Parts: sequence; C-alpha cells; structure tokens
Amino acid sequence: MYRLLPKHLPLRCKVIPVTHVAQNCSVIWCFETMRGAVIDPGGDIDPVMAFIDQQGVKVERLLITHSHPDHAGAASALSALLAVPIEGPHRAEAAVIATMTTLAARHGFFDCQPYSPDRWLEDGNIIRVGNQQLQVLHCPGHTDGHVAYFCADSRLAFVGDILFRNAIGATADPLHHLVLLHSIRRKLFPLGDDVVFVPGHHALSSFGDERVFNPYVSDFAAEEYEHLFDDPRFLQAVPDPGS
Ligand SMILES: [Fe+2]
Repeated sequence: MYRLLPKHLPLRCKVIPVTHVAQNCSVIWCFETMRGAVIDPGGDIDPVMAFIDQQGVKVERLLITHSHPDHAGAASALSALLAVPIEGPHRAEAAVIATMTTLAARHGFFDCQPYSPDRWLEDGNIIRVGNQQLQVLHCPGHTDGHVAYFCADSRLAFVGDILFRNAIGATADPLHHLVLLHSIRRKLFPLGDDVVFVPGHHALSSFGDERVFNPYVSDFAAEEYEHLFDDPRFLQAVPDPGS
C-alpha cells in the first residue's frame, strides 16, 4: 500500500509504510535531476529498493528523524546496500541510539540493526536533494535529538513522531510533553498553514488542519499552556528547546 502526494511538486515523494507498525518511510527525489534520499528506513527494505529501482531515483543519502527502531532499524542495511551515508538526527539522540537493540527486542523489531550516523545534523542545516533543498529543524520532545525536514518549495515537511493527524508523539514525562508542544507550536506551525506533513504513522495532514482540529496543539488547546513557553522556569528546565 503506497500513499502518493500530488504529482506536480518539484520534490517528489512516495510514502511506503514499513514494519508491523506501518511506519511511513519516504522516498524523496528532485523531479529535475532524479537525485533523492530515503527518510526513516525503519525496515522492509525490499519494497523500498523495488520502488527506487522502478522509479530510477539516484539515492544519495539516508535521513533519520529519530532513532526508534521502526524509523531507523534498516538504516544500516540500506546504507550498505546503496553505499550512501546516514545523516541525522541531532547529536542529542546518542543515548537513544545506544538503547536501540534493547528497544527493538522489546517491541518485536527483530530485523533492527543499530547504526551510527555519518553526520549529526544541527537546527538550520540545509540538505540538498538535487535542485531542491530541505531545512533541518531540531524538534525535541518525543526524543531529545528528533529533527524534522522541511522543503519550502514544495510546502512539504517530514516530521517523524513529533506530530500526527489529530495526535502528537508520545513523551516520557510531563516536561518532555511541554517541550514537544513547544516544538510543534513554535518550530513547525510557523512554517505555514499550507504545509502538508508526512507523519511517522497514519495519514498525511497539514499544519493548518492541526491548528484547528488537533486536540493537543490547536490554537484553542494552546490557550491553556502557551504562556509557559515564555516562563523563566520552563527556560531554566529546558535551556535551549530545539536548537
Ligand atoms: Fe518514535
């Protein structure tokens, strides 16, 4: 089952659900040059490779939003197969990567292999995909080193487990929940209501729709907590949320 975005975008994208939790792995490519990348190869590399071959995408790198097994479990294998580097997420993810094998066994990701990025990414980094480019946004909360990728030309964002249609990512405790709300409201939503995002699971949506309908991060819901983002005690607990 493939989910296809509009065909007119300068950055093309095919979403391929992988693993038993249907994680949205994305093959992206520049229509003009056919140069591309794979975002979050969590598993099931056969259908991913079949699509790459069938479409003729010249994959140049793997991009990781965060290091949970369903998102990064096949990064190592696909990197070796395609002879391309693994980039991301932010270096704050190192502790999560260290627990990948344990997490994978606990959650049934039996083919998961640990990996180490060839390059950590920083907030504001620009990644070229042929004639297109992605902006890196560090968006902690679900995990400390979680990043999102945003293509301004195609108004398209890849957000991993930060935000879903009508839901948000799981967090370890209430402080991380607040950090995640901050990432969504202060880092993602300012990109524009028209931006369509590919979440880590389930259906695509737009930031505009989530600002209206999402029970956690709608403008209405945020009235209850948004003042905390500027509270000195929040900034003391989280000195640099999303840098
Ligand atoms: Fe996750």
